[in-house]
Amino acid sequence: MSAASSHEKLRQWVQEVADMCRPGAVHWCDGSSQEYDRLMQEMVAGGSATPLKKRPNSFLFRSDPSDVARVEDRTYISTPDPMEAGPTNNWMDPEELKKTMRGLYEGCMKGRTMYVIPFSMGPIGSPISKIGIEITDSPYVVCNMHIMTRVGTKVLEALGADGEFIPCVHSVGAPLEPGRKDVPWPCAPIEKKYISHFPEENLIWSFGSGYGGNALLGKKCLALRIASAMARREGWMAEHMLILRLTNPEGRRYHIAAAFPSACGKTNLAMLQPTVAGWKCETIGDDISWMKIGPDGRLYAINPEAGFFGVAPGTSYDSNPMAMDTLKGNCIFTNCVLTDDGDVWWEGMDGEPPAHGIDWKGRDWTPASRDVGAHANARFTAPARQCPVICADWEKPEGVPIDIFVFGGRRAGVVPLVNESYGWDHGVFLGATASSETTAANIGDIGALRRDPFAMKPFCGYNMGDYFQHWLAMGDRLGRNAPRIFYVNWFRKNAAGRFMWPGFGENSRVLKWMCDRVDGKAKARETAIGLLPVEGGLDLEGLEIAPETLQELLKVDSDAWRAEIGSLEEHFAQFGDRLPARMREQLEALRKRLG
Ligand code: GTP
Ligand code: SPV
Ligand code: MN
Repeated sequence: MSAASSHEKLRQWVQEVADMCRPGAVHWCDGSSQEYDRLMQEMVAGGSATPLKKRPNSFLFRSDPSDVARVEDRTYISTPDPMEAGPTNNWMDPEELKKTMRGLYEGCMKGRTMYVIPFSMGPIGSPISKIGIEITDSPYVVCNMHIMTRVGTKVLEALGADGEFIPCVHSVGAPLEPGRKDVPWPCAPIEKKYISHFPEENLIWSFGSGYGGNALLGKKCLALRIASAMARREGWMAEHMLILRLTNPEGRRYHIAAAFPSACGKTNLAMLQPTVAGWKCETIGDDISWMKIGPDGRLYAINPEAGFFGVAPGTSYDSNPMAMDTLKGNCIFTNCVLTDDGDVWWEGMDGEPPAHGIDWKGRDWTPASRDVGAHANARFTAPARQCPVICADWEKPEGVPIDIFVFGGRRAGVVPLVNESYGWDHGVFLGATASSETTAANIGDIGALRRDPFAMKPFCGYNMGDYFQHWLAMGDRLGRNAPRIFYVNWFRKNAAGRFMWPGFGENSRVLKWMCDRVDGKAKARETAIGLLPVEGGLDLEGLEIAPETLQELLKVDSDAWRAEIGSLEEHFAQFGDRLPARMREQLEALRKRLG
């Protein structure tokens, strides 16, 4: 297909990339289902995709064993001044990084087709949406982008002849020599992987990985790293947050946006089935929230994505039935087990494990196997519109008004089930100091405790100290319309290493408490770290939980918190004079309250 765009700058850029990468062909994506079907059929024929007999129009992929997650160590925020990237990002000089990457891109698409994917993050035409163009040599990426974003001709129409777009270059970094058979999952070795962002010129260059956040450039690269930098310049917010609507028995609606680190419960909370009688939950988004102050002075959120790229292991009818129902067809699965009857399986799915299957590495697998069958970061790609509890307003161009922000993480100890901030600045402090044990969503240590401010450590496209200041500034602008801020931890463990809180649908009890706090209906007790439910304050009707367990979950252990002060000081010290004074004051106030 010839260049479907009259946009001179776009055509020129596509030509430049083609001249550098030298693909065998160039294809402009129209976003049609015919395009999707044709690419899938080619991948089935080539041996990289397996159609699933049990799920209509669904396919399983196995990645290269080295290419199973994001690569934070190979992810760069490249600005002329390293101070602009800040201490929480990897930095490289833009000229140097571009030189290295141009060397890698040179001829990297030989023997492959170069796809040009026009995509919109957010409903086309929404005042909060942004248009990107991803160039990639991976048909797997094209199909995933079809599900995760709005792709195709209508985006080019919206772009017109001179609209603004964010250029995103992606290559798996594995040129195909003539006569050579392709491997099922081409990619480059770790030392050649680069996930690079140039926030001062709204540019993304990714090389060497075909996986999720490294390759679907609309997601973490554009909608978080580049968008967070744009949002600060333009006075809005781009956050690693799910968005949900809760409706209480009286019909009052609350919109909640919650930031948890990767693989810490966003998708599950977004689709929660409340166990408290009469409450209803609807999903708006499961990973990213873009928010702008509306004409009425409230903060309005849209989900910039169109699909869910969710963690498969642990997903079941028991834990997340709405996700299971979303996955019945039209999905892509990556690194799951293939069962003998042509379905996917993963650890934690309902019922008995299959007696035999093929594991994520393509080997025979049985329940007696030493290794897990599905990779811990195995994922599904599913259209959001298939979710049975998707909110009717999920594509509303103006978004939904946020009442409540929630921060949290995965902490086996110390951090209680829930607490509320004393106000905006204290809430920003809770976000700024959030901590969590690392997960399989990144290649690296698992279970290592780290600070992950606002669940944005891997995703903030500028100096995190300035990001804290941006949050403070947004609060100042919102004034009394600012959402209330809470902090949660679903992941507290007992001495035996078991989760103490049942989680999932039962988390609705905690959300109900938050809504009642907003309405002035729930009492709280003041503690050193924030406001906690009074005894009997959580609605536990129908839940069996030992009183000692509950007490432990809602305990503020002053000694343990005092022991955190050193780590908080160290955390803040790295930002130097970019740390807002108001954050330092919050730390002092906490120290005083702890006595
Ligand atoms: P990303 O897609 O990486 O951003 O992850 P996420 O934040 O959407 O996490 P997700 O909801 O996929 O959950 C990750 C893992 O945590 C899954 O294995 C879940 O089963 C588990 N999980 C989610 N919510 C809870 C909970 O309330 N309690 C417990 N114990 N586990 C949970
Ligand atoms: C995350 O790691 O936070 C994800 C998955 O949502 S990925 O798209 O790979 O970044
Ligand atoms: Mn995520």
